[in-house]
Amino acid sequence: MWDAAARGWERRRDRMWESSHAVGEGLVEMAAPAPGESVLEIAAGPGDTGFLAAELIGQSGRLVATDLSTQMLAAAQRRAAELGLRNVEFRQVDAQAMDLESASFDVALCRWGLMLMPDPAAALAETRRVLRPGGRLALAVWGPREANPWNTTIQGAFGAHGLLPPPPDPNEPGMFRLADSGELSGLVAAAGFGAIELRDLPVHWRFREIDEYWGVVTEISPSLGGVIASLDDAQVDAVKRDFAERCEPYRDGDGYDLPGLSIGLLAR
Ligand SMILES: C[S@@+](CC[C@H](N)C(=O)[O-])C[C@H]1O[C@@H](n2cnc3c(N)ncnc32)[C@H](O)[C@@H]1O
Repeated sequence: MWDAAARGWERRRDRMWESSHAVGEGLVEMAAPAPGESVLEIAAGPGDTGFLAAELIGQSGRLVATDLSTQMLAAAQRRAAELGLRNVEFRQVDAQAMDLESASFDVALCRWGLMLMPDPAAALAETRRVLRPGGRLALAVWGPREANPWNTTIQGAFGAHGLLPPPPDPNEPGMFRLADSGELSGLVAAAGFGAIELRDLPVHWRFREIDEYWGVVTEISPSLGGVIASLDDAQVDAVKRDFAERCEPYRDGDGYDLPGLSIGLLAR
């Protein structure tokens, strides 16, 4: 699924970063990687959050960017080459069973990965294992559904036309699986981390035209891309019209601003 979405994530990288940079930057600020440190990015996708850390750790530091999807890793590798980064390695790793040495990293970063994993407790235990004692974990998950109209507005339009399965069981992997910050903190503590701090990290999808947002989101979403491919033009137009109506409350100046909220967590 993520291999299929990787092309859209690469093509739309700048637009996505424009909307979400506060989350990547917030995580890196929380973890504060220092020159010479070794950083692991988990579920790195196209790699942008880790690349911010790579700049801070410098040539004497090391970033290992990991993901389960080889296509995401390939996109990340192309970006690192564009940026001229020479302190980054790329590894295909399942976060729930990391083929990485114990106590070998100072910092672990994970933006929007943990809640998608069937066994987040295993991923956190593995993260604790590969971090050195005192090593920092900074991760972000999506906050509650109602705080994320950037996602629920378009999902609502598809859902109203019977084009999406009902939302997953709250205990199944999914965008909002770890939206309860108490539950998230409990999971992190159970994996052996302490000194847990939480920080709200907002996102804003600002766009002038409905088509602009529609184009990006349907290209990056692993679920919506497949649905659209199965529809005829009239069906697509009907969902798009519905989506446009649902966007009306979010008019802002001469465009729209669909907000969202990530929860950032720092632990040691
Ligand atoms: C929503 S994307 C986030 C990508 C990136 N962290 C970002 O913020 O742009 C989720 C990523 O998690 C990866 N992923 C999902 N399950 C994983 C697992 N078990 N181990 C490692 N990566 C995983 C996917 O391949 C995808 O790249």
